Order: sequence, then C-alpha cells, then structure tokens
Amino acid sequence: MAYDLDQFIADCRSTLARDPGPAGREEVRNNLERLLHNEDFVREYCGDEQPSGLKVLYEDEKLGFQVLAHINNKARVSSPHDHGASWAIYGQASKYTEMTEWEREDDRTDPKHAKLKPVKKYRLTPGHAGIYQDGMIHSIDYPDMARFVRVTGTDLDKIHRVKFDLKSGEVQPMSPQQAT
Ligand SMILES: [Fe+2]
Repeated sequence: MAYDLDQFIADCRSTLARDPGPAGREEVRNNLERLLHNEDFVREYCGDEQPSGLKVLYEDEKLGFQVLAHINNKARVSSPHDHGASWAIYGQASKYTEMTEWEREDDRTDPKHAKLKPVKKYRLTPGHAGIYQDGMIHSIDYPDMARFVRVTGTDLDKIHRVKFDLKSGEVQPMSPQQAT
C-alpha cells in the first residue's frame, strides 16, 4: 500500500517523541519525501483543482508540530526570514520552489539591522524536501500553481519570527499568516 497521510502523521509522532532533534527531523524529512511520491495524496491534497490557501492537515496537541498544505495559485518571492525558535521542512508537491539559504555577515549587535549573504541556492522539485533548522534564514521564490507541504516544529503564528529587508538591512517582525 502507498505511504499515506495517516501513516506519515503516525511516523512523525513516534519519531519526534523519541528524538525531537536534528536526527529525528531528518527522518521526518525522508518520510515527507515518501508521502510526496504517493500520487493519490498529492492529487487529493495538493492537486490543481484544490482551492488556494493554507490548510492545516494536522496539528499534534502533545508535541506541537503541524503539517500544512500550501496551495498557491500565484507566484511569489519571499523576503529572507527565519522560523524563530522552530524548524521547518518544505516538501514540494507540484512545480518547484527556488530556495536560497542566507547567513548573517554582521556582528548582531544591532537588533534592527542585519547584513546577509546568500550561501546556498537550489531548486526544490516535486518529491523533494528540504530542512531548515532553528534560526536558519531562507527565502523562497515559486511560480504560479506551485504547491508544497510544510512540517513545522510548532505553530509559527504563535512565535516571534523575523524577516530581513535586503535593501535597507532592516530586521522586521513577521506577522501571523506570513507563513512561509
Ligand atoms: Fe520559511
């Protein structure tokens, strides 16, 4: 039988209960890739006919992690941002996402300004998932109809996160629903 959402959630629960650190998250990333190879899952939750929006597929009351479907109809380029004290795993379902990972070049003495440099650029294609550990900064750029599934360590709308304006260097708080 194909690896489905219920199985994926059950595996996330057992893995993250045993090991919430980087090794456990890597298992989750691998399992998300397995799930994204299930064509029925992709069609049902991320297919072209699915209405656009952000859907919470699962939230774990005890461990706090969330599984989210990002059903995007319109292309978008995000600012570089972090995920606060959480981690995030992005798994591509359709089209692609251009990922850029950034590092800070400044000495972090000014909480309102930062200088970033890109350190890694790659394209996430269907069936592939990338992991962004606590505090890591990335930006995303995707075309119309790009859809992805994201697993986050907690509800990101409830924690402090920041985004970076590349031109001014300004560090700005992220508001809820600026989810990605
Ligand atoms: Fe992100």
